[in-house]
Amino acid sequence: MYPYRNPFSPGAGAPPPELVGRDPIVEEALLLLGRIKRKRHEKSMLLTGLRGVGKTVLLNVIEQKAREEGYRTIFIEAHEGKSLGALIVPHLWKLLFEMDRMASITNKIRRCFSILRGFVSGLKVTVNDVTIGLDIEPERGTADSGDLEIDLPNLFVALGEAAEESNSAIAIFIDEIQYLSLIELGALIMAMHKIQQRCLPLVILGAGLPILPGLAGQSKSYAERLLNFPDIGALSESETSKALNDPAREEGAEFEPSALAEIYRMTKGYPYFLQEWGYQSWFHAKESPITLEDVRFATKSVIGRLDKNFFRVRFDRLIPSEKSFLRAMAELGPGLHRTGDIAEVLHQKITSLAPVRSKLIKKGMIYSPAHGEIAFTVPLFDEFMIRAIPKIK
Ligand SMILES: Nc1ncnc2c1ncn2[C@@H]1O[C@H](COP(=O)(O)OP(=O)(O)OP(=O)(O)O)[C@@H](O)[C@H]1O
Ligand SMILES: [Mg+2]
Repeated sequence: MYPYRNPFSPGAGAPPPELVGRDPIVEEALLLLGRIKRKRHEKSMLLTGLRGVGKTVLLNVIEQKAREEGYRTIFIEAHEGKSLGALIVPHLWKLLFEMDRMASITNKIRRCFSILRGFVSGLKVTVNDVTIGLDIEPERGTADSGDLEIDLPNLFVALGEAAEESNSAIAIFIDEIQYLSLIELGALIMAMHKIQQRCLPLVILGAGLPILPGLAGQSKSYAERLLNFPDIGALSESETSKALNDPAREEGAEFEPSALAEIYRMTKGYPYFLQEWGYQSWFHAKESPITLEDVRFATKSVIGRLDKNFFRVRFDRLIPSEKSFLRAMAELGPGLHRTGDIAEVLHQKITSLAPVRSKLIKKGMIYSPAHGEIAFTVPLFDEFMIRAIPKIK
């Protein structure tokens, strides 16, 4: 079938042809945005889910909605190598400039510039990509102590006041939030707390791996009163069929029911995988309807592609001890496992595995949904590990 009409879009953050099954979360976000803009109290949101379930896509959709609601937005992606301060400052600087240009009353905006200058001087890192106005006098004593838990909340309150004064609203989106350090996460939660207490028109929304609720609770016990953690999961069988058939129909084609059932069986409803299967099945099918045979034929190349890309990039970041930990975990199948069981497979002591386990959590490969239990953050990674390392050494 015509490859250029192939509607499917496998890829990190790639907008799907149809965003299936996420309406309740988008509605929840709209309510949050609507209330914050009107300076009403509302819990913020941290979208949590495994790799490839559609968190980034959803966060982008919510950002778009925020813009339509008249918000000024900032979107950042946390990563292991960069501090939150260094990541966010250039965006804040740009935002303040935009606000300064547009607003008629600018006292609070000016003050926020000075506080931001102070904040930068308190950071122990250099901020690239931006010329921080050296002509602006930094405000001393507000957000320049160098202690992020003091400075960040004060900076964000100043930002919220600037938004309030200029009758605007600001939404800050942070993807991959699990890569923030505990201190950064704590500072962010304290900032949210202060902003919410003051009912300022500033909201912070995030997304990340399911380690988040635990991390947020660990860093500040009141996090649960400030935040909801909507669980972004796999799609149901009927949602999976819709996610495949609706876009195909838009292009004048369709899948046979048995083909849809096979894709659901293989993908378990995980959005990234169903985009891959949809894409390759379309690519291999000669004509519509796309049949069970087409899907089966496509499966080989999908698995090859996943093994080479999606799984491999993660696998290549592992050192040998981490690989053998994950291989032993894969031996136990999908789902939750106790470190003790993994130690048994490896004939090692639990205590000797503790450092590997915590490194794997830091790297975002596994997470601990319940005390003492761990699971893969990447769906179907157990099957991949067995393909990659057929025999436990
Ligand atoms: N609701 C949905 N229906 C169909 N496909 C979707 C849906 N949400 C996301 N996808 C598809 O899933 C893939 C992964 O989306 P995305 O990158 O947003 O996931 P993620 O959760 O951010 O993953 P990661 O944790 O690796 O960053 C994309 O190809 C996207 O098109
Ligand atoms: Mg993402």
